[in-house]
Amino acid sequence: MVSKINKKILLAASGGIAAYKTAELVRLLRKKNAEVRVVLTHAAEKFVTPLTFQALSGHAVATELLDTEQENAMGHINLARWADLLIVAPATADIIAKFSHGLADDLLSTLYLAAECPVYIAPAMNQAMWNKTVTQDNIKKLQNHGVTIIGPESGDQACGEQGFGRMSEPEEICNHLLTGSSSSLLQGKSVLISAGPTREPLDPVRYISNRSSGKMGYALAEAAINQGASVTLVSGPVSLSAPAKTNLVNVETAQQMYEEVLQRAGLYDVYIGAAAVADYSPDQIKEEKIKKQADRTTIVLRKNKDILSAVAHLKQRPFTVGFAAETQELEKYARGKLERKNLDMIAANWVGKESGGFEDDNNALQVFWRQGKQNFEMMNKKRLAEKLIELIAEKLDEKNTTKNP
Ligand SMILES: Cc1cc2nc3c(=O)[nH]c(=O)nc-3n(C[C@H](O)[C@H](O)[C@H](O)COP(=O)(O)O)c2cc1C
Repeated sequence: MVSKINKKILLAASGGIAAYKTAELVRLLRKKNAEVRVVLTHAAEKFVTPLTFQALSGHAVATELLDTEQENAMGHINLARWADLLIVAPATADIIAKFSHGLADDLLSTLYLAAECPVYIAPAMNQAMWNKTVTQDNIKKLQNHGVTIIGPESGDQACGEQGFGRMSEPEEICNHLLTGSSSSLLQGKSVLISAGPTREPLDPVRYISNRSSGKMGYALAEAAINQGASVTLVSGPVSLSAPAKTNLVNVETAQQMYEEVLQRAGLYDVYIGAAAVADYSPDQIKEEKIKKQADRTTIVLRKNKDILSAVAHLKQRPFTVGFAAETQELEKYARGKLERKNLDMIAANWVGKESGGFEDDNNALQVFWRQGKQNFEMMNKKRLAEKLIELIAEKLDEKNTTKNP
């Protein structure tokens, strides 16, 4: 882990509530030895004051494009040339749209066009704004132009809603800038991830499902992408939006998930089974809605195919990682599953009282492979996913080296 960032960083904030967090980001970057100059859009100035950033960065804050005070009136070009990297945090839907369309009607959008250094943005906005197709198209365009997108995170929003759109924490952004250039542990590798719950229909309106939110699988997809992998996500019904650059395949039932995963798995380097797949499905799906009649009724269930085990027993198999949720004897049951299903690695967590898990934003994991294990303490699922992806990349590398010394 790099501990210093001896770079000249141009840090811009656009006009969102999260601009208050940008002050902390200046402090963290300076602590890491970076020289920081701050740009605020006019909208950002409504949320935070230039004086705060002047005091924290030790430099005057730039806000104007058409600034007659500048000696040669070329401040935007000078700033763009000065910077080793440009980070926009928070990046509003508006500034993202401007960047992606090449507009240059204020200081920040003009700086972006003039910048030849690496550009990072940390979007922050209401979840509906983030999920809007036009915003997602703009994000994809920027990624194709080489811009690195940090976050956003999922969770409670300032507007009182829930979902993706919250700016990543300053510490996470800072870590990303520190390690950004070296996050390529899965460069050139393909990763297949299954996530979320499945729904097993009983009749046209009812189904059996579980509490899986899909957060862990989606966070793993994002972490794998950030490490350079190409990622396909086979997802049951969740209320999350897939990270940009993900190839998303939506499914509903365990059988559909089986088919979509199995037809691809042999072509991938890594398969991570993070979905909570129903073990059993109703033996019969009634064509008409089941009527309320008897006081007691019975549903006959039949066992579903085991996706993880099927992938791990393929002739041409990816590095296969499973998840186990246990309420007792975690290591014993997890290692049993590792052996029985022929997995390369299993990530196990406690479920039940006070233990994080399914719907929580945080989780703790114990990860087992044949020759070892590693504990990850309770932390945010995004951070946990990053750590797990790093471990998978390391073990995959070891396996490939043993196979082709
Ligand atoms: C209270 C308030 C909060 C806002 N928060 C956000 C936000 O978090 N993200 C966003 O994209 N826009 C947000 N907006 C809208 C932007 O401020 C608006 O689109 C503005 O034109 C952005 O200008 P800029 O991109 O030049 O900074 C907010 C507006 C208000 C009034």
